Amino acid sequence: MRDMKAVVLCAGAGTRLRPLTFSRPKHLLPVAGRPLLGIALDTIIAAGIKQIALVVGHQAEAVQGFVGDGSAWGAEVSYVTQEQPLGLGHAVNCAREYVGDCPFVVFLGDNLLEAGIGDFVASFRADEPEAALMVRPVDDPRQYGVAEIRADGNVERVVEKPAEPKTNLAIVGVYAFNSSIFEAIDNIQPSARGEYEITDAIQWLVDSGRPVSTTVLEGFWEDTGAPDALLRANRLYLDRQQHRIEGTINGVSEANGMLQIGTGTRVYDCRIIGPCFIGDNCVLHDAVIGPHVSLGDGCQVRNSAIEDAIIQDSCRIEDLPAGLKRSVLGEQVVVIGDAQGNSPLHLILGDMARIRVI
Ligand code: DAU
Repeated sequence: MRDMKAVVLCAGAGTRLRPLTFSRPKHLLPVAGRPLLGIALDTIIAAGIKQIALVVGHQAEAVQGFVGDGSAWGAEVSYVTQEQPLGLGHAVNCAREYVGDCPFVVFLGDNLLEAGIGDFVASFRADEPEAALMVRPVDDPRQYGVAEIRADGNVERVVEKPAEPKTNLAIVGVYAFNSSIFEAIDNIQPSARGEYEITDAIQWLVDSGRPVSTTVLEGFWEDTGAPDALLRANRLYLDRQQHRIEGTINGVSEANGMLQIGTGTRVYDCRIIGPCFIGDNCVLHDAVIGPHVSLGDGCQVRNSAIEDAIIQDSCRIEDLPAGLKRSVLGEQVVVIGDAQGNSPLHLILGDMARIRVI
């Protein structure tokens, strides 16, 4: 059988993550110090797939600048442009020429899954269904594609974001296809929300009598499309990180739990409560950091408390002793408090925002 390829979809506009995504594609937002797309590529490569196309659109140059030719991952990465985000079916179709007649995985670039995709890919190759889905029971399936499954484990019906879901099985953003999915895409129309849905193309396969198998995903799964989900993913990855201290922590500081502190970072008179990721060349003074904080490179924090937050490179946070919580900040953001404030701030701020509490 031909080698498997992968198509990673990174062309959406990331509207639910605005203002963070005005200046950066959502796939480059970091969790635990790593861009989402870097984690997705690791997951694909760990399954033995090295030929990968990235479908890019919104801020394509930034994605290209980060991944390049893929050699940093030991992969061969190509780029396919989707001019307009007209839906997942449309995005997959953009990679038609790249895929040719190889079987392939489609990976939504904003999905993170703990279990990896190795077993999923291996059973797709062994059982040779027409397509394979991963599903996962969730509390509120209405925001996902939802699957109804027959007794033999194959799909009976898939519906995109139904108002009244028939099951609690959400479709995870990883699919395995062979080239028949392109025939299916040729036969679908835009949905009520105006998108060519991959879910409709999968239903077309089912209606044409082709087997579409399902695997129930174990371990955590996050679709990081919104700030709360990004923070949840940050917590999950921080909970699993190794301990690595390269910077310096002065004797008066207290540091507990699993920490990564980068080269050139200096910590003075602080309390660091792990798990936390602190990048290179940061300066922290009289601060309480953690748990579950990711701080990018070159950040400065003074007389402030930060908990459950993603702070990107070169931010400055001062005089916020009541704290910054459940927050995501872009790069070069400055937040200056009044040194007393009684309640913590919850901020979602794009690059270069300036906030002063008076
Ligand atoms: O995360 C799982 C869910 O992903 C599934 O349960 C749904 O069935 C599936 O439709 C999808 O729903 P979302 O609403 O989360 O899809 P979203 O618009 O966020 O796009 C997912 C990824 O695909 C994201 O990385 C951006 C990219 N994309 C999206 C569109 C609409 C493209 O590359 N091109 C597009 O046209």
